[in-house]
Amino acid sequence: MYDFILRAYFVLTVPISIFFILNSTKIHPAYKITFFKKFRLGFRMFLNRFRMVTGTSYKSHLAMALLIFETPPDVAGDIIECGTWKGGSAANLSLICKLANRKLKIFDSFEGLPESQEIDREGHYAAGEFCGQLEEVKRNIEKYGAIECCEFYQGWFSDTLPQLNSPILLAYLDVDLELSLETCVRHLWNNLTDQGYIFIDEYVNLHYCAIFWSEKYWEKYFNRTPPGLIGSGVGLPLGEYYIGDWSTSYHHRPLHHPNAGAYTRKDYSGHWIHFPDEE
Ligand SMILES: C[S@@+](CC[C@H](N)C(=O)[O-])C[C@H]1O[C@@H](n2cnc3c(N)ncnc32)[C@H](O)[C@@H]1O
Repeated sequence: MYDFILRAYFVLTVPISIFFILNSTKIHPAYKITFFKKFRLGFRMFLNRFRMVTGTSYKSHLAMALLIFETPPDVAGDIIECGTWKGGSAANLSLICKLANRKLKIFDSFEGLPESQEIDREGHYAAGEFCGQLEEVKRNIEKYGAIECCEFYQGWFSDTLPQLNSPILLAYLDVDLELSLETCVRHLWNNLTDQGYIFIDEYVNLHYCAIFWSEKYWEKYFNRTPPGLIGSGVGLPLGEYYIGDWSTSYHHRPLHHPNAGAYTRKDYSGHWIHFPDEE
């Protein structure tokens, strides 16, 4: 019964979601994103959900589309995906890149997750899980996305990301492990444009989000305050009902679901300054 209600809600709200999420007076006119183009993009993204296995929602992809379309085309910067699995989210990002005339650079081992370390609190996966081979990913994007916008970088992030030296407008990090997330943030941050974005998955886990709030981390590696993370713990509010927390709420609120990613921007800052006994 609950499954049926959720599925009906998911399908019936597609046009509403596309309309609301892509609603902005700031979408740059140079992209010529008409009403029709928004719906075509949104429906293709939604349908891709059923064509490839994917771990993420078309709504989070639409949120990324919005931020990309709101950025003027003369702001240089590629779109990066770290963690692609079968190419489900990459296919959708490539459709956005086609409309925005940007390049999508896809980074993955193409042999699944690395061996997880004991200190990694997300390390409950087996090595090789979420494996999508390079040829398989390319085939999926060819069929359901825009392969002409894509470049592929195969290998562990710690080997491939340090080579990247072009500006980044938006990086989507869907990499499961805490240590993979940290590698991505450390190697990508300096390449982000002044108002460049980082989106993540696994936003329901407060420990995972904490990298974006850690004063020690940002002071140590970037000599700045933490940027914070919009959507920490519950995801972006894009038409779902969910108040968290992840560890317990699933059992007694079957209609509550998080859905749509979390993000930060290079020029954001979130830090506390009041310590009364020190003032
Ligand atoms: C959950 S999957 C990505 C799902 C995909 N974004 C989607 O929406 O369908 C995580 C991916 O991260 C990749 N990955 C994680 N850590 C990595 C690392 N350190 N180096 C390279 N690839 C890694 C895995 O190979 C896997 O493809």
